Parts: sequence; C-alpha cells; structure tokens
Amino acid sequence: MTGAAGQIGYSLLFRIASGHMFGPDQPVALNLIEIPVEAAMKAMGGVAMELDDCAFPLLRDVVLTDDPATGFSGANWALLVGSKPRSKGMERGDLIRENGPIFTGQGRAINDNAADDVRVVVVGNPCNTNCLIAMHSAKDVPDERFTAMTRLDQNRAQAQLAAKAGVHSSEVQNSLIWGNHSATQVPDFQNPTIGGRPVREAIEDHAWLEGEFVQTVQTRGAAIIGARGLSSAASAANALVDHVRDLRTPTPAGRWNSVCLKSDGSYGVPDGLISSFPVTSDGSSLSIVPDLPLDAFHTEKLATSAEELQTEKDLVTDLLG
Ligand code: NAD
Ligand code: LMR
Repeated sequence: MTGAAGQIGYSLLFRIASGHMFGPDQPVALNLIEIPVEAAMKAMGGVAMELDDCAFPLLRDVVLTDDPATGFSGANWALLVGSKPRSKGMERGDLIRENGPIFTGQGRAINDNAADDVRVVVVGNPCNTNCLIAMHSAKDVPDERFTAMTRLDQNRAQAQLAAKAGVHSSEVQNSLIWGNHSATQVPDFQNPTIGGRPVREAIEDHAWLEGEFVQTVQTRGAAIIGARGLSSAASAANALVDHVRDLRTPTPAGRWNSVCLKSDGSYGVPDGLISSFPVTSDGSSLSIVPDLPLDAFHTEKLATSAEELQTEKDLVTDLLG
C-alpha cells in the first residue's frame, strides 16, 4: 500500500490485518510505502507500532519503505492510495498534473518487482486517469489487472436510495456508478432494485431521482470535505475493502459491482479509457455486464463523463509512455 501514513491508511491497514479484505483464513504481509520525508516515515513507523500492538493473528510481516522497488517486491495486490487529496473548492481533476506523475514511477516499479499475478487498485485522485497512467507504465502487466475505485460512490448511492425509500440499505441491490469518479459520475437509478422492485416504482418522486439523488452522490466527496475539512477516509477505506473482496469473490448471479476498468468500447465509452462500469468477477478475471438498458437521461450523462475522461487523458499524454 502506498500512502500508508495518510488518513485512508490509518483506517485501511487495520481492516486488512484483521482479515476483512482477504478473508479470515488468509495470512497477510504488508509492504507499506511512503515518501522519503522524515515526518511521513516517522508517522508510518507509528502506524506499524499500532499494528504490532493489535497482535493480529493473520499478520505475518510488515515492511516499511520509501523505495517503490522494495515496496512492490513480490506484491500480489498493489493498493495505490498515496497522493495529494483535494481541498475545499477544488475538483478531483485539478490534481492530475500534481498526482499523475506519481503513477508513472509506481507503474514501472510494479512492472519490474511485483508478483506475476499482481492486481492493482488506484484510489489516489483523479483515480481513473491515474490508473490509466499506471497501466501504461506497467507494460508487462496485463491491462485487465488495473482497476480504480468507484465503490465508495456505489455505497453512497445505495445509502441515498435506501434512505429515500425508507428501507434498510441491504434492500437496495445492484447500486451502480458509470463513468468517472468525479462530479460527472452517473449514479444509476434505472438498473438497481429496491426490495426487488425497480427504483422508479419504489421511489415515486422521479424529480428527486433525476435531481437531488444524482447531485448528492456526485458531490458527496466535496460535502465530506466541507464538513470534516478533510476528505473521506474511513468510508474510502471501507469501500476499498469491499472493492478488493468483491474482485476476489465470484459475483452472485444477477449481481454486479461498480468497478473502473479499461473500456472495450462498451456503452459508448471510448476504448482504452478507465471508466466505471457494472462488473462481475469469476474470482480472478472481470467482465463488463453487457446490454443493460440505459435511457436517454443516463446515456447523455455517461457521454458527458466519458468526454471528461478523454479530456483528462489528453492532459497527461506525456505520462502515457
Ligand atoms: P492523506 O494526505 O491523508 O495521505 C496521503 C499519503 O500519501 C500521505 O501520507 C503522503 O505522504 C503519501 N504519499 C504522497 N505521495 C506518495 C508517493 N509518491 N508514494 C507513497 N506515498 C505517497 O490523503 P488520504 O486522505 O489518505 O487520500 C489519499 C488519496 O485518496 C487522495 O488523492 C484522495 O483524493 C484519494 N481518495 C480517493 C477516493 C476514491 O473514492 N477513489 C476516496 C477518498 C480519497
Ligand atoms: C471522495 O469521493 O470522497 C474522494 O474522492 C475524496 C474527494 O476528493 O472527494
């Protein structure tokens, strides 16, 4: 994991070490990577001390390093969190020129040092385009091993739909995000269900679905920053646990999860962009769910999000090798 001394790291590492990400029978060894700055390395050392102090039965090893080659050595999963978060008033895309270059060196280090089966998840923002950069920098790692995270947005959409319908969040199935992890993302209200019924039947206020629902999910990250003065961390770590667990587990029939991966042109998203889609896993490889219906509202919004992804890509062509 990169960014181990950061906010997300502090919520995430204890969940991994206690078995929530890889399961209760899977021992884990953590390679933690930070920047070569004394304060960051010292803070990461403190996190490692706390990991020791938990005496987790599954935790076998903790390596602390500022060297990506050492950090990614033998890694089966590379969780790329380390990068600058946005502050109030910024969009995530405003970070691209500052954070993007991080993912060239890390992509190369993964290419050269990680295990043959490495799978990479990018969380650092703007995560879709940073994932694209890492993928292009790791020439020998198959593209399908790279994903970025919209699981937090999926979980947010699930919670919003449940609250409006007056049901527990477990009643909402197949909550789904399309496009970019940004303010243009498309929270779907056509394909999920609530208590087994279409969302538009369970929630009769369709103006709320097209307006407040979509906007609340699109801007939830900014709302958290407005409230906490810091970006989401515990919910982001929780979403990353969900993301990895569900990529490693065969998806139940009729279900999917939101995962950003390389587009094959599905749903009109240009080939090669890293976009959020409905995705199933067979436990190792991923597939985009084909042929879901998308009405004009969703289709138009997805086209806008894909255009934004293309614009972000155009801003980093020099980083795409
Ligand atoms: P943070 O500032 O608390 O921590 C980031 C850590 O990364 C810092 O300790 C920093 O030293 C480290 N870091 C920076 N560059 C690094 C590098 N090259 N190698 C290794 N470590 C490096 O930030 P945070 O709150 O933990 O958020 C991290 C990132 O995750 C941000 O970009 C944030 O916007 C993003 N994020 C994404 C989602 C999502 O849903 N995709 C959700 C929440 C946060
Ligand atoms: C989020 O969605 O909470 C994160 O991407 C952090 C942010 O900048 O909004």
